[in-house]
Amino acid sequence: MIPASTVKVSLAERSYEITIRAGLLERLGRELKSYGVQGKVGVVTDRHVARHYLKSSLEAIKRHAMDPVPIILTPGERLKTLKTVEHILDVLARHRFERSSMLLALGGGVVGDMAGFAASIYQRGIPYIQVPTTLVAQVDSSVGGKTGVDHRLGKNLIGSFHQPRAVWIDPLTLHTLPTRELVAGLAEVIKYGIIADKSFFAYLRRHMSELRRQSPGIVATVVKRSCEIKAEVVAGDERESDRRRILNYGHTIGHALEALGGYKSFVHGEAVGIGLVQEAELACFQRICSRAVVEEIRRTVKEAGLSDCMPGWNPQRIWKAMLHDKKVSGGRVIGVWPERIGQVRIGPIEKYVFEQWYAVSRVSPHGHA
Ligand SMILES: NC(=O)c1ccc[n+]([C@@H]2O[C@H](COP(=O)([O-])OP(=O)(O)OC[C@H]3O[C@@H](n4cnc5c(N)ncnc54)[C@H](O)[C@@H]3O)[C@@H](O)[C@H]2O)c1
Ligand SMILES: [Zn+2]
Repeated sequence: MIPASTVKVSLAERSYEITIRAGLLERLGRELKSYGVQGKVGVVTDRHVARHYLKSSLEAIKRHAMDPVPIILTPGERLKTLKTVEHILDVLARHRFERSSMLLALGGGVVGDMAGFAASIYQRGIPYIQVPTTLVAQVDSSVGGKTGVDHRLGKNLIGSFHQPRAVWIDPLTLHTLPTRELVAGLAEVIKYGIIADKSFFAYLRRHMSELRRQSPGIVATVVKRSCEIKAEVVAGDERESDRRRILNYGHTIGHALEALGGYKSFVHGEAVGIGLVQEAELACFQRICSRAVVEEIRRTVKEAGLSDCMPGWNPQRIWKAMLHDKKVSGGRVIGVWPERIGQVRIGPIEKYVFEQWYAVSRVSPHGHA
């Protein structure tokens, strides 16, 4: 049995702990009790997650004399909307949730982002706890307090910062995750190596096949190290004025591809995987990194089972989609560029540079043609 471990997110009075513990879900009631939670607990989840984990979670909560109210959403990014959040708020209001009532976000990043957003606006803010069940959510979306929904014109365009009271990770929940979703999560994990930790990147390369087979010790180590890096970055810049932007590496192109694919062609991590490679290509084109760096990133992304290829879409449309992302300043896209593995820099890119690169890479042997 792998022992439980914790990671602290240090944000003054908004600080909290991430607990990683196999079998944590069975102890939900006890854990909530130890937080002094009483009365109603809203359990926001989606149908896929509910099928595997809702019954046992509700029972675990009831065993400790709390009153769980399940709120089961339709799965999928396409329903990460204000309308779905309104539905959550309706249930909370109908059940007379109060300022002190607790919400649990039991699911992937979509559930976590929406439950967190609902918690941030219901009665001007109620507490919530993240119980992430996908790899993306366990290493990324559950930590850091960014909540929100998509808008027709852009991903995560509406939202708020609202830190959870705790993040409870049960790595055993990954056993029921479809392989496609597990692999997608590896993109975020690889991202941490590239932006902040060369030896973690090397560790990932050494253990990629065990990671894909969910070898328990490797999964626990990888989830913990990823959470540590995210926690460290978030603690230094809670509201993304500067350093936190490095977490967006791979996401400028990634988000554009997701949007242009109508949130159907790629799941989030798959688009980010392509973004990791193609933004490294762009960095190399701007002479920020060497070709060796690009190839190392490409190899790792492919070993994870992810694609590195840009779809042959119109560059004007891709640029336009990149501009709709929030990381834009005065019409310029602000990118995150690897200098070497473990170190990135933030800087703007002009449209003509992007278009030049795109044209060149269509015909180059390293490109995406
Ligand atoms: N807030 C942040 O800082 C942040 C960071 C990264 C990503 N995100 C957001 O997270 C979302 C992506 O999250 P995701 O990749 O977790 O997707 P997701 O929430 O859509 O989950 C993926 C799929 O797996 C299913 N699922 C979840 N857990 C399962 C389990 N244990 N067993 C079986 N099926 C399970 C879900 O029902 C869904 O069909 C995006 O909307 C993205 O914008 C937010
Ligand atoms: Zn992401």
